[in-house]
Amino acid sequence: MMTGVSSWVKWSAVVVLLAGYVAYSNIGPPPTTDLTGQRVLVTGASTGIGEQIAYHYARQGASVVVTARTEARLRRVVEKCRELGRKEQIFSYFVADMAGSNATKEVIEFGEAALGGLDFLVLNHMYLMPSANTWTGSDHNLTMLRHVMDVNFHSYVQLASHALPILERSNGSLVVISSLSAKMYQPYFVAYVSSKFALTGFFGSLRLELEMRGSGVSITVCFLGFIGTSNAVTSLKRFGLTRVLAVEPTDPGVTAQNIVAGAVARTKDVYFPYLQTRLTPLIRELFPGVFDSYIRYLYTKSYDINIASEQG
Ligand SMILES: NC(=O)c1ccc[n+]([C@@H]2O[C@H](COP(=O)([O-])OP(=O)(O)OC[C@H]3O[C@@H](n4cnc5c(N)ncnc54)[C@H](OP(=O)(O)O)[C@@H]3O)[C@@H](O)[C@H]2O)c1
Ligand SMILES: *[C@@H]1O[C@H](CO)[C@@H](O)[C@H](O)[C@H]1NC(C)=O
Ligand SMILES: *[C@@H]1O[C@H](CO)[C@@H](O)[C@H](O)[C@H]1NC(C)=O
Ligand SMILES: *[C@@H]1O[C@H](CO)[C@@H](O)[C@H](O)[C@H]1NC(C)=O
Repeated sequence: MMTGVSSWVKWSAVVVLLAGYVAYSNIGPPPTTDLTGQRVLVTGASTGIGEQIAYHYARQGASVVVTARTEARLRRVVEKCRELGRKEQIFSYFVADMAGSNATKEVIEFGEAALGGLDFLVLNHMYLMPSANTWTGSDHNLTMLRHVMDVNFHSYVQLASHALPILERSNGSLVVISSLSAKMYQPYFVAYVSSKFALTGFFGSLRLELEMRGSGVSITVCFLGFIGTSNAVTSLKRFGLTRVLAVEPTDPGVTAQNIVAGAVARTKDVYFPYLQTRLTPLIRELFPGVFDSYIRYLYTKSYDINIASEQG
């Protein structure tokens, strides 16, 4: 009787979410807004989603400072922003490695000086690649974890902390690019997943504090599904995660449009693509056993799949 009722509740939740998705997906592409005069700093903007976020802000009239480690790429991103924007908009770049403990202050100081203040701080950079492997507990693993947490978590906290007084003056917005990996456990990505869980814990809690003290600063946390940036796709290929690659990736440009729209609307949590990022954590919550076996299947490396098929 009890199990009958609880499974009825579970399936109803799934049906309600699917209906919600159908309603949501009929809304169409997010509206574009005139962002003339807005001042934006985007991290990890030399490639991928961050690069597209910079272009989308540029198209809508905002001034943009981009930062990452690779100067040549940043210079190209700034050139493209100039083509997309108008003469009055400021576009500039700052080269910095977020693994360094003093870089974050310099980035914010540069952004504030170049733009004359700050309305949006988009935290997007990440370090992913070396973490796609077995966790054995070696010294190497521990050092790698520390590095991943420095780049993906501590630098975000530092950048936000240095920027907060500036954002308070403009009633600005903090935009944090997180992932479905903040809501779902994944083998071979122990360090990356930990850093994304930490991020959402920190910024979700900080948001409550800001609200309690009546701050005008908004925090938008973006939970993204599988996005087809060349770095994400190449690293999945390199680690032989062919079954994950069978999931249809979403276009980085469309993703950037949805992130910017959510930030402008001061949405607390952006889920994109909606069905993937909403349903996956719900299904795990409702059917943990089935879900975990699916994940173990999905994250089997092609090397192990080949061995199994040779033996069978
Ligand atoms: N792609 C996906 O499927 C996916 C899914 C969910 C969430 N996300 C999130 O979306 C964000 C962007 O992902 P993406 O796929 O666009 O990645 P990406 O193309 O690899 O871009 C990462 C950016 O971070 C910069 N970066 C890396 N290490 C850095 C460091 N130590 N210091 C400063 N900058 C550094 C890179 O530039 P340099 O190398 O020039 O420094 C690059 O601009 C990440 O936060 C990621 O977690 C992505
Ligand atoms: C930050 O560290 C880098 C490299 O260690 C150094 O070159 C730079 O001068 C430092 N900047 C400040 C403000 O301390
Ligand atoms: C952990 O360390 C082992 C031994 O050095 C290494 O083979 C493995 O790739 C490392 N795993 C990660 C996730 O870095
Ligand atoms: C920020 O918001 C507060 C409260 O709504 C308002 O009083 C103040 O004028 C705003 N400041 C700016 C710079 O928009």
